[in-house]
Formats: sequence, C-alpha cells, structure tokens
Amino acid sequence: MSFTYDQTQKLFTIETKNSSYLMQVDKYRILHHIYYGRKIKSDGYENLIFFYDRSCAGNPDEVYPDRTISLNTIPQEFTTFGVGDFRVHSIEVTNPDGSFGADFRYAGYKSFEGAAELPGLPHAYDNGGEAETLIITLKDKVTPLTVDLVFVIYAEKDMITRHVVYRNEGKGTLKLGRAFSLCLDLPYGKWDLLHFHGKHAKERQPERRPLSHAIETLESGRGTSSHQENPFFILCDHAANEDYGEAYGFMLIYSGGFKAEIEVDQFDSTRVVMGIQDDLFSWNLEEGGEFHTPEVILSYSKDGLTRLSHNYHDFIHENVIRGRYKTERKPVLINNWEGTYFDFDDQKIVEIAEEAAKLGVEMMVLDDGWFGERNSDNAGLGDWFVNEKKLKGGLKPMIDRIKALGLKFGIWIEPEMVNEDSDLYRKHPDWAFAMPGRKPTRCRNQLVLDMGREDVRAYLYECLSNMLRENPIDYIKWDMNRSLSDLYSRVLPADRQGETAHRYVLGLYDLMDKLTSEFPDVLFEGCSGGGGRFDAGIMYYSPQIWLSDDTDAIQRLQIQYGSSFGYPVSTMGAHVSASPNHQTGRHCPIHTRAVVAMSGTFGYELDPRKLSENDKAMIRSQIETFKKYYDVIQRGDYYRLTEFGKTYYEAWQYAAKDASEALLNLVVTNPEPNQTPLNIRLKGLDPDAIYELEYDAREYLKSLDDLEINEFSVDSGKKEAAPKRYSGSMLMYGGFTFGWIAGDYPALQMHFVKVG
Ligand code: DGJ
Repeated sequence: MSFTYDQTQKLFTIETKNSSYLMQVDKYRILHHIYYGRKIKSDGYENLIFFYDRSCAGNPDEVYPDRTISLNTIPQEFTTFGVGDFRVHSIEVTNPDGSFGADFRYAGYKSFEGAAELPGLPHAYDNGGEAETLIITLKDKVTPLTVDLVFVIYAEKDMITRHVVYRNEGKGTLKLGRAFSLCLDLPYGKWDLLHFHGKHAKERQPERRPLSHAIETLESGRGTSSHQENPFFILCDHAANEDYGEAYGFMLIYSGGFKAEIEVDQFDSTRVVMGIQDDLFSWNLEEGGEFHTPEVILSYSKDGLTRLSHNYHDFIHENVIRGRYKTERKPVLINNWEGTYFDFDDQKIVEIAEEAAKLGVEMMVLDDGWFGERNSDNAGLGDWFVNEKKLKGGLKPMIDRIKALGLKFGIWIEPEMVNEDSDLYRKHPDWAFAMPGRKPTRCRNQLVLDMGREDVRAYLYECLSNMLRENPIDYIKWDMNRSLSDLYSRVLPADRQGETAHRYVLGLYDLMDKLTSEFPDVLFEGCSGGGGRFDAGIMYYSPQIWLSDDTDAIQRLQIQYGSSFGYPVSTMGAHVSASPNHQTGRHCPIHTRAVVAMSGTFGYELDPRKLSENDKAMIRSQIETFKKYYDVIQRGDYYRLTEFGKTYYEAWQYAAKDASEALLNLVVTNPEPNQTPLNIRLKGLDPDAIYELEYDAREYLKSLDDLEINEFSVDSGKKEAAPKRYSGSMLMYGGFTFGWIAGDYPALQMHFVKVG
C-alpha cells in the first residue's frame, strides 16, 4: 500500500520510496494539505498545523465564532473560489444563477490498484503492479459541482501524478472558466524557481531565481506548449545544486496552452497551481457532465537536481513513452531538409540516400515539399497527395529504390495546417480558424485547421492512413509550424467558443491515437518549428521530438542542457548538419557536431554528396560509435557535469544503471589562453571497481602546436600517455585531468568499462 487512511485522525498518508505526502480532513471537512517532501513518519504531524486569528482573513460561516480558521491561510489540497481564499486558485466557475463561487468539503475517497484512465488525454501508465490510485472527492456546499482529486502513486519511482475530474451532479450548466489540474501548498521553506523559457530556435533556456512575494506566472497562450515556456519547472531550495538539496518537479502532460502560477503569500507560504491556460478557455459542464484535466507529474528529490532529472527520465521512458521504439533501437537517419530545402526531385532524394547508405545511415527521411503544389512554404499544406512533378510515378517507386539500398524510409507531414493556396482550402475554407467578420492571422503563410471538428479529422485520417497503407513508410515526422490564433469554431455555439482551443488539442490527440494505434510499427517524431511542442503529451504518441530548428552544435549544447532537466536524451531529435551552420553561420568540426548530436536521437541533416572523403570517413565511424554506445546513452543515467556557461567548456556524461560503463563527453566552447587545467569528476560509477579506458576520442583534439600558430610548445590532452586503468573512486573523487586544449570547439568522448 502506497497510501493509508487513518480513520480516527482522518489523515491520508502517501508514501513513495523517498517522499511522504500528507493530507487531513478537519472537523469542518476542509481538506488540509499537511506535508509533501522528504520521507517522514507521520507521528507528531499535528505540530505542523496551527491556527490563530490572522488579520484580514475571512472565516467560513460554519466556524463562527472561531476566527482562527480561514480558507485564506489553511494549506489546502484544492482551492475554493470566491469565498475568502485570496491566493491563486485552481478553479473559476460561473454557477447557473450567475454567481462565481465554489467552496468544497470532503465527501469521501476510494482507491484501487493501477493507474486511473484519462479518456482522450495522454497520461502516465502502469506497467503492472506498480501504481495505486487514490481519488478524494470534494463537493461544493451549495451547487452540484463535485471534484475528484486523482492521485496516482508510483511509489518505487518517487512519482505522483495528479489530475482533477470536475463533475456536474445536478441541474443547470456550470461554466468552468478555469479548471486546473492541481494545487500544491508548501507552507514552509523558501524556494528558487527554475524554469525553461525560450524562443524559436533557442528553446528551453534554464533560468533560476528566488521566489519573492509575488505571483510568478509561467504560461503559453499560444494553443501549444510553445517554444517560449515549457510546461515543466522546478522549485528547489536556495542552496540546491546537482547533488544536494531539495527539489520539486512539476510537469504537465499536455500539448496545448498551459499556465502555472506560483505565489508566495503574506505568510511566506508557497502555492503552486497548474493546468490548461485559461485566458482562451471555458467549458460548459452540462448536467451529468464530466471534465477531465490533463495530468501533472510531480516528483520530489532530497538529493538535488540530478536525482530529480533521473526520476523524470526514467518515468518518461517507462511510464509515458509507448510502442515498439520504447525499447527497440531507433534507426540512424538522414533528413534532406537542410540539404535541399524545397529543391528536390525523386532522383536527388535517391542520390542522397545512396550516399547515406554507404556511410552506414539506416533511414532516409523526406522532409517538407513532396505533396500538393508545395514548392515554397506559401502553398500546398492540406493537399496530402504526392506531387508527381517532383516524385515521378508517386512515392512508391522512389521508396522502392531507397529500400533497395537497405534503408528504411520516413516522411514529413504537417496535418494540422492549411495554406489558402491549396485545393483543401479552396474546397473547405470554413475548416480553418477565423473569427466572423475578421480575416485570420497568417503565420508562415498558413492557417490552422479546426482539429476539434470530426470532418477535419476524418479527412486527415483518410489521407494519412491511405498513405501509410499504400506505402512502406517506417517513420513520420509530424510537424506543426505556428501558434493558434483566431480561435473560433464554426461547429460550436456562441456560448461554447471557449472550448475551441482545448477541443483542438483533444482532436489532435484523437488523430494521433488512431494513427499510432493502427500503425504501431511506424516511428513517429513530433516537431513544431523545432521544439515548440516538446512536451510529455506528444511523447505519449511519439518517442522522440525534433528538439530545435537550431542545428548549430554549440547552441544545441544549451538547448539539450536545458531540456535535460525534465526530459531524457532519447526524446531529443538531434542531427549533424553542415558547416558553416545554416542558422548561425558558425564553423564547427564534424567530430564536435557528432558528439553533440549523439546526445539525442542522432542523425544527419545535410547533403552527403557534398561531403569530403575525410568527413565521410568520420561519419562512418561516428555511426559505429553511436550504435556501440547506444544503450548507455539512451538508457543510462545522464549527468550534467558543468553548470552551463560557467566555464570555458561543457561536459556531460552517461553511466549505466549498474555502473558497468560510462561515456564522458566534453566540448571546449571558449578556449582560454594560459588555460586553467581541465579537471572533470565522473559520476555514477562504482567507487570500489576498476575501469578501463576503452575508447578515447581525444585524437581529434588539437594543441597550439598542431595549429602551428604559437611560439609556445604546449601539450594537449591527447599526447599524455594516459593510463588505461583507473579506480572508480579516482575517476569520481580525483577526476580526470586534461592538458591544454585549443582550437575551434574541440570535443572529446571517453568510454570507461568496469573490468574488476
Ligand atoms: C520546421 C521543422 O522544424 C524543420 O525541421 C522542417 O521540417 C521545416 N519545418 C519544414 O517546413
């Protein structure tokens, strides 16, 4: 049992391996939040709660004349609305009589083995015998509004998911203006907020600051989880670092707009609320209706940020990602986008595939431009029929030629979008979002289809499922290149227009669900102008997501670093692209580009026909290296060894869960004159074991001598007669020291294997 209910004290205790979560029902049936944090025995929990009359705090009617009980000061498991709790709230509701009020009291609980289902929404799942669900029901004192607070406890994994089911159990329509997934009060402690903001081609940039007496809002109002803010953030104590300190993670499994509010109130208590973004949201809860919110994945670590990240990485691998590629190695691919953009025909694609096959690439992916009149990004979206002027005879003959080379084949789609210059738009202009009397906003010259409409989804399903049935396609890149605006659905009545954005997301999930279920062998990769929809919702359908449209390896270091706080590297689409890079113009060695891309799904995005013989030889060996270390990279524990941007290099590492091997990676981003010795301490090894340095890619490093540009003779790391064997304790506590490393972005990889 991962939770107990003490009938006498009316105390709920949830226990995971390293954390405890306590709630209590008081004599007025208010559900108090008592504690979430490091594992404790609950004896003496009363000490955490005390009441006294706090000025300007309202008191609910039933406590009269006691002025010590106030909804504005009690840490609560869920918020009320409009009845005297002035902190950030999880619900806004308009009742049938027009009043704005909700005041919940405990009504009971139930529990069962396994994970609660979430109809129509992606959610974490139980692999059998690992989860337990606790549902606590609260009822409004007056209206028929009932909320089920759903906790799914994955005790061994230190994960708790939470969502809410809002129900109308009576007459009249309740209009939800906000229907969040959780409220978490942390009455004690002072916290830093670590969140991941960004922009197109620079996603998930970590930013950390202490919370102050204010409301912090993290949100996307773009109808997608967005480049600008990720639906994952961390609260940690001020001293917390990778290995030390308390940290809480909050991750929403949702791909639409979201909002989190974090308030430090007048008594220094912190409240977190999180859910679907509510500026563009309302939901009519009809008689007997239910509204299910997306899930939030909560985790707590007493041992710093690395432990918290590992909790999320393992959970996403094991309890969010599904299907064949949950375990099977994914093919090393080449994508033609940066190699050709729209300028290709079948012959060119086959030539690229031929070159790539010789290098050891395993899959050819044909990106944007193969359908309709799609010769630029101004036309064709919506017409999911092959452009035979470009691909003579259709897709099949070209795919056959590619398959004859021993490659798999993948293709790009962007089903949610339409260009006005398309047959689809000419036939169904009403399928795209546009508000009555207003011309819709274009972005990349495209409009957004109303995915909440069944007819839209039926059309897309027919086109895409036929394509998959008629062609031997192994992979789909599902792109989505704009934010949602002009939200107005022609199939919803005026008083339901607030449902449009969420219905869009539900429609998207419905289509993804149909296609991924019907074609379980196809590998899906999510994408949204790079990483604009990089979230656990999409990961439920596609085990990898294109991380960013920025393929510059040095920029990618930071994007991968930021993304790694919540998401495993196996989910991060990463390619080696050409040098100079197309987004930054930077020159970067091909070895470095590969070391960085290997910390992701690994593939290439360039024209292999234009490569030098030296680069081709490098690529052959890179693919072998990646395949050799695939397991430790994709399934091992990931360690951030440097705090990004704090020194002249960046280092990160993988260690097998049984400490049998480790792969160290390092890139010098800003070489220094008179360099400070570079000493790296490895992590996750067995201190008592002996490790052998089995692979040492320092041969690609350069010293100033090699460059012949300096009067000084300096020794680079590569020239040291490195010993082959090291104790785990030496590598972890003494570290590994390198000589002076010079040049443009040199990178190294070293693989250690446990030998005794
Ligand atoms: C945006 C994606 O992120 C790119 O990789 C590429 O697929 C383009 N769209 C194609 O339009």
